[in-house]
This record gives sequence, C-alpha cells and structure tokens, in this order.
Amino acid sequence: MQLGDIKAAVKELDNSGVVGMPTETVYGLAAKISDPVAINKIFSTKRRPFFDPLIVHVASIAMAKQLTTDWSLMAEGLAEKFWPGPLTLILPKADLVNPLITSGLDSVGIRMPSHPMALELIEKAKVALAAPSANRFGKTSPTKASHVLSEFPADEGIVIDGGDCEVGLESTVLLIKRNNENYQLSILRAGAVSESAISQLLHKKGFKFSFVEKINKQLAPGQMKHHYMPEIPLVVVKDAKLSIQQILLKAEQAIAQMPDQIDDVEIKKPAKFVTVTEIPLADSPHLAARKFYADLREYSEKSKADILVIRISSFHNEEAWQPLLDRLTKAASLIISE
Ligand code: TXA
Ligand code: MG
Repeated sequence: MQLGDIKAAVKELDNSGVVGMPTETVYGLAAKISDPVAINKIFSTKRRPFFDPLIVHVASIAMAKQLTTDWSLMAEGLAEKFWPGPLTLILPKADLVNPLITSGLDSVGIRMPSHPMALELIEKAKVALAAPSANRFGKTSPTKASHVLSEFPADEGIVIDGGDCEVGLESTVLLIKRNNENYQLSILRAGAVSESAISQLLHKKGFKFSFVEKINKQLAPGQMKHHYMPEIPLVVVKDAKLSIQQILLKAEQAIAQMPDQIDDVEIKKPAKFVTVTEIPLADSPHLAARKFYADLREYSEKSKADILVIRISSFHNEEAWQPLLDRLTKAASLIISE
C-alpha cells in the first residue's frame, strides 16, 4: 500500500480499491459496501476466509438505519450514548447489505468510528464502508499507518495516516436480539465499552434486558482461539514466581508439540528455547491497551529472543483489563498458569 490523503483514498474507493483507514480502535481495511469487487478485494488482500464477517462503518445514525431491518429503541439508545466510538452493534441485516459482507449471516455488524478522518472518508465516499482490521488474517492488528504499509504489497491500495490509534484494541462487539421489548444481549468481543457501562445506561433508560454468554463459532465466526499472533511466539505467564529457566522449559515442551496450524492460523515455532524478552505492561489498562499491538510488532522485529513473555497478575482480572486479557490470550502460543 502507499500513503495518500483523503482525496486519493476516495478515488481509490471509486475505482473498486481498498483503503487503510485510521479509526480510534485500530486501522481498518475499507471498501464500499455497494461494490462487491472491492469487498472481495478485502478478503483476498487480507487472506481472510469468507466465513468471517466484516463490520460496516457509518458516519451517521441515518446511515446505520438503512443497514438493518430492526433499528430498535435499544440500538438508538446505545448509539446515542456510545457513538461515535468503539462499540459495534450486531443487528438484523437489511437486503441492501451484500451477504459477502456478513458471510451469509442474517445479521450485520455496524459501528460509527470517532476518528475524524474515518468519518470524513465515509462521508466523501457517500456510502458505508466495510472494514476489518488492516492486518493479514490471524496476525497482529495495526495501530499505526506504518503497520498497514508494511503488511501489504505496495500496489494494493492507499493508507491514510491518521496517527497512532487512541484506544488501540478493536471495538466491543454486542449482539442484540429481542422479543418485543425484551432484549437479550451478548458481548461477542470485549472492547473499550464495557458490559457494566452498557448495563448502567440501559438500566437508567428502563430497558428490560439480560446478558447471555454466546461464544460459539456460528454466532461469532471471528472469535477463533488463535488470533493477533506476533512473529515471535508469545508466552503469557500468570505465575509471578516462575523463573525464566522454568518458563523456557515449559514453553519448549508445550510449543514443540503444537500443530503447525490451528483454525487456519500458522503457529510459529522457534528453532531453540534459550532466550526470552519480557514485554512490560503499563499500569493503566488504557495505556496498556493503546501500546499492546505496537509492542507486539516492535518486540517481534527488534528482539532476537526465541520467545516473548508477558506476565500478568491477579489485579488484571478487573473489568477494565478484560479487552486486553482477551487479546493476550489469543495472541499467546502458550499460557502458563499457577
Ligand atoms: O474496532 C474494530 O471493530 C475494527 C475497526 C477497523 O473498526 N474492526 C475490526 O474488524 O476489528 P475485524 O473484522 O477484525 O473484526 C470483526 C469482528 C469479527 O470477530 C467478526 O466475526 C465479528 O466482528 N462480526 C462481524 N459481523 C458479525 C455478525 N454479523 N455476527 C457476529 N459477529 C460478527
Ligand atoms: Mg481483526
């Protein structure tokens, strides 16, 4: 890909191309929802399997309403409070949305990003933009324009440089189902908008709702176990007392026995288990989230270690850390518990 301004990006979209779009969460790989050639290009550029649906990005609530057959009072309330921002609503899809985008599901993921360049791009494209994170399938998500540039070949579209992503982890994905005014909600992916923030708003507004756990593959095809994996295998260690030697030994035993691929994602195996680089986590969950993907990339490029290690402890179980713990768990080749 090549750097370009919004004008060049709009032209690229008009020519059935894909655009690296900055958002507050991570960079997206955007195409017009009205253009099946461009939507296909998202999947081929990312090498993403067709069973993993894309999120559609809008610049207004009016635009969102056209994408779903059920813009409920709850959708309206959540959008008013959390949009523009890191919350994706999964709602019944309208015919206008190409089944390629939703992988044949009868629901569609919709989100209004808050990055001003994303909003401007959508407005100037005059149509909603489908965009997954702008990384190769299964790899670490991009939080800087340079990450997107290095991920794809030079002739594959335009990247807009919108600076470093402020949130740094992908949006919360919330499935909304309802029976009249009884709502059933499921968080399919944790993100910066927490379950308690959602609950608080919905209680205040007097909705009847309950949260149900739903993590089967049919409802959330993207919720694979392995995802976001860095080039050097990551080992997450929950045991503060474990020495580097013990970590190396456990990693060698476990990783050597893993298959070469899980869920279409390649599992990296170092040639030896001798050296470790430890990645420190910031004290604040927001700062840690903002830096996480960039750290995974930078340590993978610069470190000569055989494995990367991140240590976590009991305070990381608090709700504010959940989005990061989720990504850590999926990026890890191995998790060593106490
Ligand atoms: O923050 C974000 O959400 C970023 C930026 C670019 O907006 N996008 C992003 O897209 O993370 P992606 O494709 O990497 O992740 C989309 C997730 C996947 O886990 C996918 O399975 C889920 O959303 N998803 C999309 N549509 C869905 C649907 N109709 N039903 C269930 N899950 C859906
Ligand atoms: Mg992704």
